[in-house]
Amino acid sequence: MSATPSNVGPKAGTVAVQAAGKSVELPILSPTLGNDCVDIGKLPKETGLFTYDPGFTATASCKSAITYIDGDEGVLLYRGYPIDQLAKESSFLEVAYLLMNGELPDARQMGEFDHDVAHHTMLHEAFKNFLGGFRHDAHPMAMLVGMIGSMASFYHNDLDYDDPEERRMAAIRMIAKVPTIAAACYRHSMGWPLRFPRNNLPYVDRFLHMMFEVPSEPLVLNPVAAKALDLLFILHADHEQNASTSTVRLVGSTGANPYACIASGVAALWGPAHGGANEAVLKMLAEIGTAKNVQSAIDRAKDKESGFRLMGFGHRVYKNFDPRAKIIREMCHKVLEELGIDDPLLEVAMRLEEAALKDDYFVQRKLYPNVDFYSGIIYKALKIPTEMFTVMFAIARTAGWMAHWLEQQTDPEFKIGRPRQIYTGSGIRDYMAVDKR
Ligand code: SDX
Repeated sequence: MSATPSNVGPKAGTVAVQAAGKSVELPILSPTLGNDCVDIGKLPKETGLFTYDPGFTATASCKSAITYIDGDEGVLLYRGYPIDQLAKESSFLEVAYLLMNGELPDARQMGEFDHDVAHHTMLHEAFKNFLGGFRHDAHPMAMLVGMIGSMASFYHNDLDYDDPEERRMAAIRMIAKVPTIAAACYRHSMGWPLRFPRNNLPYVDRFLHMMFEVPSEPLVLNPVAAKALDLLFILHADHEQNASTSTVRLVGSTGANPYACIASGVAALWGPAHGGANEAVLKMLAEIGTAKNVQSAIDRAKDKESGFRLMGFGHRVYKNFDPRAKIIREMCHKVLEELGIDDPLLEVAMRLEEAALKDDYFVQRKLYPNVDFYSGIIYKALKIPTEMFTVMFAIARTAGWMAHWLEQQTDPEFKIGRPRQIYTGSGIRDYMAVDKR
């Protein structure tokens, strides 16, 4: 696992800050790609000043060599490889190796990685007890958080974070078991018996088999569905310091068990402002119903009082098309055609995108479709239920979360994350007895 490059350091000079009658020169750090950053480490000591940036809109939390996004140009690189090339040429498991190790595997390395993942897909039988404790109608993301968190109870005491092989095995176990857990959550909600992973199947086929195979008849795996899901997993595998990855890093910074870190990432991903948007998009499209209702949806999204947002639109970083959304939009047409599905929601989505991209409100705010806008239409075509959409996102993002956890463990600047605040509460005051209040 490659540590973050040490060559990222003060190269572009300094910036002077005058405050409280003091002046301090702050070093500017230059990245391989992207914006220079001001290192404010010595600001409090030299001037007594903190910085304030709710939502971390302009604050780098770490140095990382895993993924780079150019939001203005709509560029996404995994370890320097453009997402459209990886989408065309690679597989999800190869991308998981790349994210974790920093380089594409040769044939031997890929064979070993595939073998290791395939032979860690099973769950301890005690997992069934956890699963049995959930109501059949529990949201699968709630089950996923609980089940992944419980993995920490199976692999904790003997986990030595200082041992690279132990860290590698934690990543292998997580990437291997998350599809098994996800499929188990789905089957619990359906009241079906669980299915064991078939090690002779490729990663995505193995997952689809665990999801949909029923005892009464053998499952015929559709290569179009498997290829589409593998591609969606590649596109969702990592995305720099998004909310859920930052959560994994913050929890990881305390030295918490890696499975507990991933459970926290799943919890953060669930929110409709983040990974939960793919489920919310499909519900929004279904609610709009037909193309003739598109303009009223646009008008509602522009009305601050409505509290309604166009789900699947906008992004903190992309102020241009999300490159993943472009690939998924093209995939939509191809997959629905190959599966012989005519989904009216695709027409609604396309009309909605067309109307928004012509509307000044969206143009001025640089709001474009993001990764979640079209993905749900493909998941629906693959017969994945809406409530499982964000679980699909979590399966893929587990590769990125583990890559960031591994990178963090060897980061020379590793320290516990502990933001400051602007205190707006009461000044100091004495306790008052209840009869005096
Ligand atoms: C993901 O970070 C990542 O990389 C995330 C992700 C990943 O791979 O990990 O890419 C995955 O989470 C994609 C985003 C999925 N979420 C949605 O699709 C939900 C809808 N979008 C938004 O809620 C919003 O766009 C965010 C959360 C994605 C980004 O929010 P920001 O950057 O905090 O932007 P903002 O809320 O400050 O919005 C800026 C302006 C505001 O209007 P003004 O106050 O300037 O008048 O744009 C408006 C917002 O009201 N706006 C929208 C809108 N998104 C922003 N208005 C209508 N519909 C929207 N979708």
